[in-house]
Amino acid sequence: MGKETLTITDNRTGKTYEVPIEHGAIRGMDLRQIKVSEDDFGLMSYDPAFMNTASCKSTITFIDGEKGILQYRGYPIEQLAERSTFLETAFLILHGELPTRAQLDEWTYHITHHTMIHENIKKFMDGFHYDAHPMGILVGTVGALSTFYPDAKNIMDPANREKQIYRLIAKMPTMAAFAYRHSLGMPYAYPDNDLTFAGNFLNMLFKMTEMKYKPNPVLERALDVLFILHADHEQNCSANAMRSVGSSHVDPYSAVAAATAALYGPLHGGANEAVLRMLREIGSKDKVPEFVKKVKAREALLMGFGHRVYKSYDPRAKVIKNLAYQIFQERGTNPLLEIAIELERIALQDEFFVKRKLYPNVDYYTGMIYEAMGFPVEVFPVLFAIGRTPGWIAQWQEMLLDSEQKIARPRQLYVGSGKRDYVPIEQRR
Ligand code: ACO
Repeated sequence: MGKETLTITDNRTGKTYEVPIEHGAIRGMDLRQIKVSEDDFGLMSYDPAFMNTASCKSTITFIDGEKGILQYRGYPIEQLAERSTFLETAFLILHGELPTRAQLDEWTYHITHHTMIHENIKKFMDGFHYDAHPMGILVGTVGALSTFYPDAKNIMDPANREKQIYRLIAKMPTMAAFAYRHSLGMPYAYPDNDLTFAGNFLNMLFKMTEMKYKPNPVLERALDVLFILHADHEQNCSANAMRSVGSSHVDPYSAVAAATAALYGPLHGGANEAVLRMLREIGSKDKVPEFVKKVKAREALLMGFGHRVYKSYDPRAKVIKNLAYQIFQERGTNPLLEIAIELERIALQDEFFVKRKLYPNVDYYTGMIYEAMGFPVEVFPVLFAIGRTPGWIAQWQEMLLDSEQKIARPRQLYVGSGKRDYVPIEQRR
């Protein structure tokens, strides 16, 4: 192999530059030496939506989008989904290694004992309108936590960070469940420390008048696996929001509020809700070809298909498809499944989708599973946010400890008007 450098010739000046290649990338700042004159700012790269720009070095999650590979800290997602638990995976993502038994017990103890929220947070939630979307409530409430824990500003103290990490992972499900109960006008169900992370979340959502809530073990495990599958996904829109907002050195609650807001969008965590709507609109299996025609005519998007990174089957979607059958066996099938399978079958054979490498993403089947598990549609993105919290925090912590990182501040190419003089209002046309 030749030298790990790139030679660039600037045809404007005829000058040649040699810049190093590291990990298959050149440094954007190395372009700045390329100038046409001394007072030239220097060459920049233009990359809207970060299509080909690495914003960080990371050791957390590896994705090979062409081969459909997803690994957390080197461990394949399929193995974690089969053998790990969400809290163990969260530890792995945050600490880099699988925990020993003693570490896992301590970690679980801390998360379990930080699930309560201040009664004033409850009052704060009461202020939301009766039909407020739980995700909107979650965004506001997690942001508000920063005012309850002013010590969280001390982000450079590792012990302090650890405490906020326990709080965030533990309290997200409590706030999410309370947001849901608020939307139903039901009294809040408090955390139960005897239950697992997923079991307790089901308890806080669905407990009625029984003395002790007993989660259905199949649904409890399925939810735990779904949390594992969502725990991190490297530099996606919400992780990027977390890093970008966190780079101003704001407290982690404010940064998680930003990440949660990013996740709320229909092109990100809101897609599973959109998939259900799409399947309902299609209505029956025989209408699938007609819908595919509409997608090809650019009149609709096939929601739950396509991904910026995956250009083959999303490995999470594969695990989820199998999980779907277990859940449907337990809870009865979702009538939309038949339409979804037919839509997937037709799309995967169609030139339009094949050429663009459009495959089902994580959201294609999750909506149907969540619905079969008894979750209302508004809770779907909230489930995603709970699962993604360890990933966001790990990304944030990695950014803080990376000596190459600074406040995130992209450049722009200004293409607006040149200097002009202010025109008094009476003279404007
Ligand atoms: N349906 C129809 N056409 C699509 C779809 C889709 N779902 N996704 C992409 N395409 C087409 C685009 O029109 C484009 O075609 P063109 O090259 O002829 O113009 C081509 O495929 C490439 O797509 P881009 O939009 O450039 O891909 P990008 O990486 O920007 O978008 C995204 C990725 C946002 C996920 C997109 O595929 C999409 O909108 N999918 C539907 C929404 C969805 O399922 N989101 C969930 C993503 S997973 C997650 O966030 C958890």
